[in-house]
Amino acid sequence: MKYNYVAPCHFGLEKTLSFEVKRIGGENVEVNDGRVFFSGDAKVCALANISLSVAERVCVVLGRFRAETFDELFEGIKKLPLSEFIRKNDKFPNKGHSLNSKLTSVPACQKIVKKAMAANLGKTYGLNILPETGEMCEIRFSIMKNEVTLMLDTSGEGLHKRGYRRDSNAAPIRETLAAGIADIARVRAEDKVVDPFCGSGTLLIESAFKALNIAPGLNRRFAGERMKFLPAEAWKNAREEARSEIITDGGFTALGFDNDEECVRLTLENAKKAGVGKYIRAEKRDIRDQEKLPERVKILTNPPYGKRLLEVNEARELYGIMGRKLLPLEGRGLYVITPDEEFESIFGQKADKNRKLYNGMLMCRLYTYYK
Ligand SMILES: C[S@@+](CC[C@H](N)C(=O)[O-])C[C@H]1O[C@@H](n2cnc3c(N)ncnc32)[C@H](O)[C@@H]1O
Repeated sequence: MKYNYVAPCHFGLEKTLSFEVKRIGGENVEVNDGRVFFSGDAKVCALANISLSVAERVCVVLGRFRAETFDELFEGIKKLPLSEFIRKNDKFPNKGHSLNSKLTSVPACQKIVKKAMAANLGKTYGLNILPETGEMCEIRFSIMKNEVTLMLDTSGEGLHKRGYRRDSNAAPIRETLAAGIADIARVRAEDKVVDPFCGSGTLLIESAFKALNIAPGLNRRFAGERMKFLPAEAWKNAREEARSEIITDGGFTALGFDNDEECVRLTLENAKKAGVGKYIRAEKRDIRDQEKLPERVKILTNPPYGKRLLEVNEARELYGIMGRKLLPLEGRGLYVITPDEEFESIFGQKADKNRKLYNGMLMCRLYTYYK
């Protein structure tokens, strides 16, 4: 049985995500602003949750239809084959958003979605009141330009939660964004990666995952594991397949520096928890004391910036020091993500390419030096 899915991602990472979706066997891949639609069987859904490195979550598309009025929203939902996905006792709370559409009130839409789903499921199961005492089936809806997409979340906690990182004061980059940067940098099994501002080690760990083909969700559970249409067999097979694809004979290494002892400790602890401890080293070092890095390393970094950790001027002073320590690059690749539009001029070299990427709500650029 084939289903339709949608996976949202950071704006700017849609291409990476659609490539990953095709690699796990997703079909009919369609890229839309900040999300990728695809189809596949239950194992594709399990693999998507376990393996996709830049997706924020994976949802089943329960239906897509146009609605400009509450009646159209209600009738559209009433027709959908919801009982294929939701059991008689399951809980089905909903949340959503509306953009550039006639139906603007999200709380009012939430009420209609709930009522229409209850009417739909009540009719199928022959119940006036659905008990909602069973498993959680979280429903999401989006209304964009009057097009409704009704979805069932199969991930539960966001996929950026890999299970290796706890909250810290290192202003960490999102795991899914770090994975996207490792993908753009084409980190491979034979690479050496360095992060001179490693914080809690996210870029190093996600680089290791990318290099060694380690599925980032292998060590966590997903809401879909308790859903009626996703059998345990699909999850078991997907985990086995993902494990069998891990590269164990690459020469990959990653090295992190940070001037904060606690960050060094955190990087090592997180790397160990993520199962990549043997590939990652970290040392306390101020960028001011950085020695010339070996040839052919890939430097992936998210240096401090004004709004989050230091005052803008202090951060900019560090970009100048980075330039003095890292230039000339002489074939080393450099991938720097920062919201500071002045980065290139202070660093001292124009990037070969830069692209917009969002770190949470913060608009950043990934300055890429690869020539
Ligand atoms: C934005 S955070 C990096 C976060 C990291 N990408 C993560 O996901 O955890 C910047 C890091 O630079 C470190 N740092 C600040 N000044 C530094 C300096 N002069 N030399 C080296 N590291 C420094 C901070 O301790 C902080 O961990």
